[in-house]
Amino acid sequence: MNYNKKTVKDIDVAGKKVLLRCDFNVPQDKATGAITDDKRIRAALPTIQYLLDQNAAVIACSHLGKPVATFDSYVKKQAEKGKDPASITEEEWKKSLAKLSLAPVAKRLSELLGREVIMAADVVGPDAQAKAAALKPGQIMLLENTRFEKGETKNDPALAKAMADMAEVYVSDAFGAVHRAHASTAGVAAYLPAVSGFLIQKELEIIGGALANPKRPLVAILGGSKVSSKIGVINNLLEIADTIIIGGGMTYTFLKAQGGSVGKSLLEEDWLDYCNDMMKKAKEKGVKLLLPEDTICAKEFSADAEPILVDSMNIPDDCMGMDIGPKAIAAYADAVKDAGTVIWNGPMGVFEFPAFAKGTQAVAEALSNSNAITIIGGGDSAAAVQQLGYADKMTHISTGGGASLEFMEGKELPGVACLLDA
Ligand code: 3PG
Repeated sequence: MNYNKKTVKDIDVAGKKVLLRCDFNVPQDKATGAITDDKRIRAALPTIQYLLDQNAAVIACSHLGKPVATFDSYVKKQAEKGKDPASITEEEWKKSLAKLSLAPVAKRLSELLGREVIMAADVVGPDAQAKAAALKPGQIMLLENTRFEKGETKNDPALAKAMADMAEVYVSDAFGAVHRAHASTAGVAAYLPAVSGFLIQKELEIIGGALANPKRPLVAILGGSKVSSKIGVINNLLEIADTIIIGGGMTYTFLKAQGGSVGKSLLEEDWLDYCNDMMKKAKEKGVKLLLPEDTICAKEFSADAEPILVDSMNIPDDCMGMDIGPKAIAAYADAVKDAGTVIWNGPMGVFEFPAFAKGTQAVAEALSNSNAITIIGGGDSAAAVQQLGYADKMTHISTGGGASLEFMEGKELPGVACLLDA
């Protein structure tokens, strides 16, 4: 895939209406709806500010959560969850949509920009159309949640065109959503000159650079709970990395494949053969593959459980692996010490419980002390680095969860492929 895309600086946006796709899919407090982390809104500010400085009229848009766009599908989904379809009202469905309105995002964006953000009540309906038509250069508006339109996730050309018709240029800065071929992330680019914003440009440069032409040695640290969700990444990184470090819940499937006893640890029986094949392949390719020599386990999955240090190949029957042990920490820290580039995706253990956060914390510490280019894939690893206080010590923390994973898998990203080549 070509990552060399035209950016907002390669196109004339002065005085033009610009449809700007952002990823404002921010976490919210379940009870109050308050935004609990505005990182993704902040990440879009450089592009928004640039467009406003260029006197563009900015029509921003984004999805938020996974609303069910029609009442019929809502009833079907609720019925699947065991609810009596006859008891489901349209009011209840509308309430579920209201919870996913982008209005709180417009408010936060307005605070961050220090100017009004006009909120539309729909995506391509009468209110959005009227407000977009009246929008003046230097003003910004936000369309309602793009997933309120049923055509969004189906990449419906009619919806894409209706969005495009409101503007003259399309700018995408929604890195977190570039793995989705939706109307607002990909389809719309068929109808307008389409370029990237600064956030996508940065993500492509740093992650794309590390994958295509890494400063070596390239060390990949892969954690998280399941081997099955990391297969694509492991396969791709086997072709690129010099060292692959394994941690987190997926370790135990590897250990079991190697003949270890893993007790009550997470295990994916169906992937045992794959793990063995992968270890063989790594050997053939001269890729160092590191598994933890020791493990911190516990008798139950709880923050208060007593941490027990064991040899990784001999986890007792009544215990489950919760974190990597001190020998593994030392080995992993040593492996990243002289790295040129480190890509990290997935925590080393149950970092949400302080007693089992030491492995993840030690890896974050080792990365912060190394001179390597350090890239943190989004999702859990980004959350861990933030929660443990190492965020500003990393070269780059991706704003994409699924998107950065698919990028590291070497997959084509529809939201990038649709942009004009540089
Ligand atoms: C994310 O949070 O990873 C992106 O916003 C994509 O969201 P989605 O998984 O609902 O498409």
